[in-house]
Amino acid sequence: MEEFYLQTYKPTVIKVDDYEQMSAEAAKIIINLVKKKPSASLGLATGSSPVGTYERLIRDHEQNGTKYATVTTYNLDEYVGISPSHHQSYAFFMKEHLFDKIDILAKNTHIPSGSSLDLEKVCEEYEAKIKGIGGVDLQVLGVGTNGHIGFNEPGISFSSKVHVAELAQETRDSNARFFNSHEEVPKQAVTMGISTILLSKKIVLLASGKAKSYALKALLKDELNEEIPINALRYHRDVTIIADKEALSLSIN
Ligand code: F6R
Repeated sequence: MEEFYLQTYKPTVIKVDDYEQMSAEAAKIIINLVKKKPSASLGLATGSSPVGTYERLIRDHEQNGTKYATVTTYNLDEYVGISPSHHQSYAFFMKEHLFDKIDILAKNTHIPSGSSLDLEKVCEEYEAKIKGIGGVDLQVLGVGTNGHIGFNEPGISFSSKVHVAELAQETRDSNARFFNSHEEVPKQAVTMGISTILLSKKIVLLASGKAKSYALKALLKDELNEEIPINALRYHRDVTIIADKEALSLSIN
């Protein structure tokens, strides 16, 4: 952990009006990177926050021909106990919202398996893969209302590696909107740990809406509280927060 946690930095904040502008700014950063470095490695998130960004990547690919054939991707997390073909799995989400609509090669997309019988091995191998490339070039993050990043819930150690996480009640409640019933929401996920995320060369965090204002306040305004996972980003030298007015309403005027 060690070398990460000696110094803190201030993230760059790009304040935008709304979700659409947030998505446009994020897409611009990703497209520029992929054009400059066709073999870029991208760390990707699921959930509502990056959907608009992915839509713009697809549109740009169709209209301007930006290529992803040599890009590799590493997703942050996957639910435990549901197969990749389940409509709510993150493997399915990524195919539906991005991978099936650009020229990325399936073999270059990495998502930890949540349906393996040997999750310990899945975690070790995923950590080794990410370490093996020296961390992704660009990690896209959303943030939970409780300040989680990936599925690193409040109280997780900042030195955590890829691991099986218990989802917080607040996270299960919030994600129940995607499932038929609350009982169906998985209780665990395989997730990059905090130290895995901090290996990334650059981090872009997306936040839209009032529900995210508490988490952004914890990062941008409050005293450092290591119980809240988003605060780990203070230890990374290249973090850009792209957030709308509502998400920033408790931290920046
Ligand atoms: C998703 C992930 C989560 C989400 C977070 C916000 O891969 O790791 O941390 O980014 O729960 O979710 P949304 O964007 O749906 O508000």
